[in-house]
Amino acid sequence: MDQINNEKLSSDLGSGRGVYISTYGCQMNVNDTDRMYSLLEMANFSPVQTPEEASVIILNACSIREKPVHKVYSEVGTYRKLKERNPELRIGVGGCVGQQEKENLIKNQPMIDFVFGTDTIDSLPQIVADVYAKEKAKIVSTKVEHRSPYHVETLVRNPGVSTFVNIAKGCDNFCSFCVVPYTRGREKSRPLQHVLTDIRHLIKRGVKEVTLLGQNVNSYHSDCGADFADLLARVAKETDIERIRYTTSHPKDFNQKLVDIMYANQDKVCEYIHLPFQSGNSRILERMNRGYTREEYLEKIKMIKAAIPNVVLSTDIIVGFPGETEEEFADTVSLVKEVGFETIFAFKYSPRPFTKAAKFADQVDESVKGTRLNYLFDEHDKMAFELAKAYEGRILDVLVEKSEPTDSKVSGRSTQNKLVHFLGSESLIGKTVPVRITKAFPAVLRGELVQA
Ligand code: SAH
Ligand code: SF4
Ligand code: F3S
Repeated sequence: MDQINNEKLSSDLGSGRGVYISTYGCQMNVNDTDRMYSLLEMANFSPVQTPEEASVIILNACSIREKPVHKVYSEVGTYRKLKERNPELRIGVGGCVGQQEKENLIKNQPMIDFVFGTDTIDSLPQIVADVYAKEKAKIVSTKVEHRSPYHVETLVRNPGVSTFVNIAKGCDNFCSFCVVPYTRGREKSRPLQHVLTDIRHLIKRGVKEVTLLGQNVNSYHSDCGADFADLLARVAKETDIERIRYTTSHPKDFNQKLVDIMYANQDKVCEYIHLPFQSGNSRILERMNRGYTREEYLEKIKMIKAAIPNVVLSTDIIVGFPGETEEEFADTVSLVKEVGFETIFAFKYSPRPFTKAAKFADQVDESVKGTRLNYLFDEHDKMAFELAKAYEGRILDVLVEKSEPTDSKVSGRSTQNKLVHFLGSESLIGKTVPVRITKAFPAVLRGELVQA
């Protein structure tokens, strides 16, 4: 494994300076923040809770939608007083925004001292040290190693009961709306043995559940020829992990072999699948470059439901993609109803730099997008509450993750990925226990512990 050079990093680069990281974005970014803290801690920086205590502030920013760059500038603006008071303060921007904007960030906002990308996180301690070493130096480090093997050890500072393990990064799909292939580079898979080793280490640190993480986990292909289904089977068989989840799947690569392996390993692999469909209309799907039609998506759902009868599904949806008509939007609403998704993550289409769809002439009006999004959520809410109520009276296996000391409640997730609250003591954290659901609310289920 490409071990981090601890000797070099444990030198005195940080000299006890406080570092604060502000994180936006997906689980990949949240995971990267943990990596940044870990690396900086090894170099003798101290993670702090507030920007006021920090000598180094980092914005790990996401650029998937909206106006991420404006968000970055406005957050940096709020640190003006801190910077005036403390000339030692250094501000950096990383994540997908760093990768996308590069030196523009420093040109437009001189308070920013350094910019780094999604492929240069491991150099962060050195970048920060260089920023301090060279008075007034500005550093931009955003090179992307397109085809280098993806050797990166999972670095989690304080793993809880459940944690993420990267299995791949980048994406080669180039959906016409999406910036990820530009901000995360080409797809690279981690060697299978590295994934297994990391999971074994995490288990020793108390982790009970891992979520295998990638932009498109289904196209995972390891050095030894294993595909994603093989990886899942081997994690289940060759480690003592109690529960396995994964995200995100791409419908075009989702296959029978995977559902069969999920079913065969159902004692460990959760029966929950997040399968973004984006649009329920085949013409829009083609313009999105998604590689499947509405009918093909529904076929995959049929295959999944046949193989895993108790499966719970969630999805991502974009409304108001360029050229989307009312009828085409109605196809999206009808698909949500037909599949019966328990959870949907829906977004207004947002034009992104470098992407094909941003150049399409027939952009949809913002107010139309807003109306469609609200309608979609309203329609889904009606259905979702019914689906949630069906859990009342059922007994679910809940892996307890947290306690609320104020009201002696604990919370955790069921294998269906439902958030469940119930009365219980802190000693339950890390245990999987049966909980009878007594009341369903839109975002959470309330239950009671079933005594043995
Ligand atoms: N790799 C995952 C998704 C990553 S981005 C996949 O392929 O499904 C997470 C979600 O953000 C996407 O599923 C999509 O619904 C949404 N998204 C991505 N680009 C967007 C854009 N330009 N505008 C609005 N939503 C977008
Ligand atoms: Fe973006 Fe498509 Fe890749 Fe997902 S599969 S990250 S939506 S390009
Ligand atoms: Fe955002 Fe980058 Fe993730 S754009 S959604 S942080 S991959």
